[in-house]
Amino acid sequence: MPDVLVIYASKMGSTQEIAEAITAHLCVAGLSVDLYPAEDAPDPIGYRAVVLGSAVYLRRWRRPALRYLRRHTTTLRGLPVWLFQSGPCGEHDASEGIPTPRAVRRLIDRTDAFEPVTFGGRLDPARAAGALARWLSSSKELRGDFRDWVAIRGWARGIAGQLGAGEPHLAHEAGPWRP
Ligand SMILES: Cc1cc2nc3c(=O)[nH]c(=O)nc-3n(C[C@H](O)[C@H](O)[C@H](O)COP(=O)(O)O)c2cc1C
Repeated sequence: MPDVLVIYASKMGSTQEIAEAITAHLCVAGLSVDLYPAEDAPDPIGYRAVVLGSAVYLRRWRRPALRYLRRHTTTLRGLPVWLFQSGPCGEHDASEGIPTPRAVRRLIDRTDAFEPVTFGGRLDPARAAGALARWLSSSKELRGDFRDWVAIRGWARGIAGQLGAGEPHLAHEAGPWRP
């Protein structure tokens, strides 16, 4: 059984790429990892930890991510669960975070997952899904790739450290671990 289950909910691909990068960093640290879109992700039973991330649309997480957390509440409560959300584009400094959506907050309370870390997102007219996405990505202020790969790597390394892999002295970067 692999160590970590990494799950993502993405519409235009950028959150998927973040999940892929996290997976790669965890593997480099010596952990074995399964990576799944939320709609196909297996039951977390047997994994040592779960990392789950969603893109943010209109201040909400993608439904498959919420559904997964809801469906597996009991199992997730017994595991360390790290969450991330990806969204802010333009001037917004993603490292300051964005409010945790209410539905996510309720699920954090039920699963004991860590507070989500926020990563910047990407708005690319070539990948825009839907009229609203095309309109937003036509704005010079919002268009672009705002993902901070150094921050993403630091977070993934911190998780590896908390799981006793890679460089444990980086463990603090992923927040405190509560058994
Ligand atoms: C219609 C639409 C609504 C969005 N709403 C938000 C939002 O409320 N908060 C936010 O931080 N980002 C928002 N974004 C930015 C997306 O979260 C960002 O583009 C993200 O990288 C998309 O992830 P994905 O490529 O994995 O689908 C929105 C983007 C679109 C197209």
